[in-house]
Amino acid sequence: MRLGKKMGVVAAGAALALTLTACAGEGAGSDSGSSDSGDSTAEGGDLSVGVAMPTETSERWIADGNAVQSGLEEAGYGVDLQFAGDDIPTQTQQIDAMITGGVDALIIAAIDGTALTSQLEAAAAADIPVVSYDRLINGSEHVDFYVSFDNYKVGVAQATALLYGLGLTDQDGNPTDEEGPFNVELFAGSPDDNNATFFWNGAMDTLQPFLDSGALEVPSGQTEFDQAAILRWQQETAQKRMEDLITSTYSGDTELHGVLSPYDGLSRGIITALKGAGFGDTIEDGLPVVTGQDAEIASVKLIQDGVQQSTIFKDTRKLADQAVVATEAFLAGEEPEANDTETYDNGVKVVPSYLLEVDTVYADNITELLVDSGYWTQDEIDAGQAE
Ligand code: GAL
Repeated sequence: MRLGKKMGVVAAGAALALTLTACAGEGAGSDSGSSDSGDSTAEGGDLSVGVAMPTETSERWIADGNAVQSGLEEAGYGVDLQFAGDDIPTQTQQIDAMITGGVDALIIAAIDGTALTSQLEAAAAADIPVVSYDRLINGSEHVDFYVSFDNYKVGVAQATALLYGLGLTDQDGNPTDEEGPFNVELFAGSPDDNNATFFWNGAMDTLQPFLDSGALEVPSGQTEFDQAAILRWQQETAQKRMEDLITSTYSGDTELHGVLSPYDGLSRGIITALKGAGFGDTIEDGLPVVTGQDAEIASVKLIQDGVQQSTIFKDTRKLADQAVVATEAFLAGEEPEANDTETYDNGVKVVPSYLLEVDTVYADNITELLVDSGYWTQDEIDAGQAE
């Protein structure tokens, strides 16, 4: 396959990559020092991998970046790990530098899934395989593989948690005798992130029968993705939108029982707005049921404390493993194994994918899902902070 040609220039490229990486001081958390493990005698030899992560403002991406880096290093590859501070030009520059620096493969979690076309063209021209990490890169034929979770099912799980929290279904989504009506508001993720519409569609397909029957109502009337979307997944933007909704819709007698939130950072912004408006400090005290995603440590503590209702646990260790496995396959001149070759059409091609399953975390299964699996320690959860 096309990598053959590259192998011959690998050593020089890797050496250059090391030099460039060592100079690249910018990029929050750029872990330059780590790149020198590429000279180990392990299987990877002198090959190096560029890992582009969106931001360090969310714990999950730090965990993802670290897990991918250590997996690659254990396999013997040099690593150039960069975080882009959620800034698109920073991310494109980082990827450009990785390519000119001679990395042998790229693992990219895009900020804007449509903004990397010219980077991917350059990667293809240099025979560098590209693994799209968790967020699909759109509009380019040069996306070689996609590792993620079943994102539609994430949305289903979020909506199911909301329905369960309101008492309209059991934990598996089977309807109960409860008829409502319950008032909810809906939040969506960043419109430039391909995942956001998958989460939204999974959630809305699950909520729709209850909206149709009248068991659920959205008093603001804001039921379109564009109305609910929060650019760049910003906590502050979500808080502001929730405050605006409270002012416009809930300043009188109208009650609010639940909020669909697709990500823990948004959930915390929403909860801050609700608490600030006097809805109560815990769900027991009258705080609406708020969902989430990512099992971020600050939110896991809120769930333990009865403040946030749920989160979706995406085991970033498993995702990182899959990214490493796929990258190793490409670097060995093979095709990685996909378990989905139909779902993820990026507008130019259907990208072969490996999708992982998720779990829903509630207060009563934190120990089983997060502590027993070693994802967080009980001390970290009690502190609400990663060690
Ligand atoms: C999405 C990702 C979510 C969440 C969100 C905000 O792309 O699938 O798990 O992390 O970004 O960072």
